[in-house]
Amino acid sequence: MNAFEYYPLHDFGPVMKGLVIGGLGIFHVFLAQFAIGGGMLMCYFQWLGQSGRDRLGVTRKFIDGYFKYLVLISFVMGALTGVGMWFTSIQISPRTIGLMVHEFHWLWATEWTFFCLEVVSGYTFFRYGARLPDALRMRLLATYTIAAWFSLFWINGILSWQLTPGNWIETGQVWDGFFNPSFWPSLLFRTIVCMVIAALAGCVVINTMPLPSEIRRLLIFRASHFLLPMVLMPVLGIWFVAVLPPDSRQWVLGGSVAMTLFMNVAVGASILIAGYAIIGLYWQRLTINGATATLLLVLAFGATAGGEFVREGVRKPFTVRQTLYSNSMTPAQITEFRRVGSVNDDPYPLLNPERYPNDQVRLGAKVFRLQCSICHTEHGVNGLMHLAGTWTNSQRRMNIAKLQFTKNVMPPFAGPPEEVEALVQWLDWLMAHEPSDWPTSDDPVVRQQIAVWLEEASDF
Ligand code: HEC
Repeated sequence: MNAFEYYPLHDFGPVMKGLVIGGLGIFHVFLAQFAIGGGMLMCYFQWLGQSGRDRLGVTRKFIDGYFKYLVLISFVMGALTGVGMWFTSIQISPRTIGLMVHEFHWLWATEWTFFCLEVVSGYTFFRYGARLPDALRMRLLATYTIAAWFSLFWINGILSWQLTPGNWIETGQVWDGFFNPSFWPSLLFRTIVCMVIAALAGCVVINTMPLPSEIRRLLIFRASHFLLPMVLMPVLGIWFVAVLPPDSRQWVLGGSVAMTLFMNVAVGASILIAGYAIIGLYWQRLTINGATATLLLVLAFGATAGGEFVREGVRKPFTVRQTLYSNSMTPAQITEFRRVGSVNDDPYPLLNPERYPNDQVRLGAKVFRLQCSICHTEHGVNGLMHLAGTWTNSQRRMNIAKLQFTKNVMPPFAGPPEEVEALVQWLDWLMAHEPSDWPTSDDPVVRQQIAVWLEEASDF
């Protein structure tokens, strides 16, 4: 893993790259979890119907109505955003994806096999379900649901490995990585989330169906059973936070305002949903209209968004903990880059190189692109102008040379003193509104001082 492969990096202007993956990922996760929970909910209703618990004979109608939404929304949109995820993540973090595919090659293949089964059984039900006898419908729905849940099972192992690789760090064994410390809490938690999304979507769909009110009430009550497992969420949430590495845990426990806030938004939204569901829908057997159900579903989306944001965020500065930093470098590569420079072999030209006044500033721009641009922009989201614009140059030099101590969400700086200085000059030049004349700085005393700072931050 020592040789560094350069990939072309995309620039989304003021939008931080991590946010591009994150934004799409949240939609995708939500839809995919709806697909799984939807299957479970339909199995439940099919079972109610078959076992004679459906005296009013409406479950079949509900299932067929619900399935249309499930197919339209979660199959079509889920598949599109799923492909979209691959498309964006290979552009933004190709080395991370490369490592994931490399380590878990056959597990990805297994996941896709289940995904294929999910799609085939789902479409078969969509096409022929209404005409089939109950027993066959059940078998088809169960196949669909089991396949969908297992695609979560496999992908969950790979995603949770990024955050808590556990014994894999020492052994490099695939199963050590897969069944990592956060595997079970995250799988169980997500399974409950699937059920919640499906039940709330179910309440929306029930409200679109022309049904007498007592039947609607009964269906909603039945669907609300799927919200009851939410009482387990606090336990699973605490389990999850407990297996996080201590530095990640501190982010959500106040260390980072954004992380703590997002986590509280997720927890708060979940408590609201659970409160409404358990007290209102289940206990008091209230009914729920389409607008309220939609509102709860939006809250669930907010909770998912908060949760996914935190899951991605607490991993910083790594994409795979202890292995690959967010800017796709291994610790060994950083040590090497400090010796030989990080962008000497970067074959990709800068966009508009003539924009820059001299080679040193061009070097700075390249260093920024390679090492910082995954998390920072120039002027936009998390923009360096906002963060370090007011600093003096010597402040910039020290804080960049000791980057991992400046904020421990950041990887160590990966270059020799010349690259630190180039970055500082690039920043200063940007702050000065990009004049066309800019002196090159090559004071040996400054370089020596940066070397000392780098040395003080060389243990990682
Ligand atoms: C893993 C993502 C990540 C990478 C890579 C990264 N940073 Fe940061 N950086 C952050 C975050 C998150 C903050 C905190 C922003 C805040 O406090 O609002 C931050 C803060 C900063 C600050 C302000 C620190 C302070 O105390 O106010 C500077 C300066 C900075 N980064 C420079 C850089 C430079 C230069 C690079 C590239 C050599 C870089 N960062 C790479 C995520 C990153």
